[in-house]
Amino acid sequence: MAANINFSPLEYEKPAEDELVRRSRSFLELIKKRRTVREFSVEPVPEEVIRNCIEAAGTAPSGAHMQPWHFVVVRDPDIKKQIRLAAEKEERINYEMRYSDEMKKDIEKLETNFEKPFLEHAPVLIAVFKESYRIENHIRRKNYYVNESVGIATGLLITALHYAGLVCLPHTPSPMRFLNEILKRPGNESPTVVLPVGYPAENTRVPDLNRKPLSQILTEF
Ligand SMILES: Cc1cc2nc3c(=O)[nH]c(=O)nc-3n(C[C@H](O)[C@H](O)[C@H](O)COP(=O)(O)O)c2cc1C
Repeated sequence: MAANINFSPLEYEKPAEDELVRRSRSFLELIKKRRTVREFSVEPVPEEVIRNCIEAAGTAPSGAHMQPWHFVVVRDPDIKKQIRLAAEKEERINYEMRYSDEMKKDIEKLETNFEKPFLEHAPVLIAVFKESYRIENHIRRKNYYVNESVGIATGLLITALHYAGLVCLPHTPSPMRFLNEILKRPGNESPTVVLPVGYPAENTRVPDLNRKPLSQILTEF
């Protein structure tokens, strides 16, 4: 039987049109400056900032409001080292054997290799897990649109970190099931991404990438 939920009036203030435009422009300018950073300062970041950004991520919409995500924050240097070693083990095989020539060519411009020092240097790692299904009273229950929901939450997290003034790297070692073991997460959860988070190392460079112009990503009727 469906549980009853109360409904309350929406908290909403309609902005004037010029204010809408002003806010959208100001957000666009801010978000255009977000870049993936691969070299981090070891300087610690305030714990509250990380918690606030994760709480912001947890406001994401999700299929049937199942909120199928879990975030693990790692500051412990020993655990970061374990993650680095496990990731490098997989990534070495990827670069030497598993990546196709096409993929190697596609990522060449990023100048990445199997070594992942950022997994130790960044003061914080946030591992994002998706709850592929959930267990209620020992019964396996379905979650809906899990990939989409967790993707949106991760987008909010990256945006919140950028807005706060930190940088991050969405890192996807593959396969990354080793994260369940190291971070003691249950079998119904799968890791989707690890975000090293912090301040950029001094004089960090980022690749000059072009983003598709609006005309290429937008169709209007
Ligand atoms: C799902 C996803 C997985 C990614 N995995 C990696 C990764 O494993 N290693 C890496 O160096 N960058 C990774 N990236 C970062 C992309 O390379 C980066 O977003 C892209 O080059 C565009 O650069 P920008 O984020 O600075 O705009 C990933 C990004 C996404 C969204």
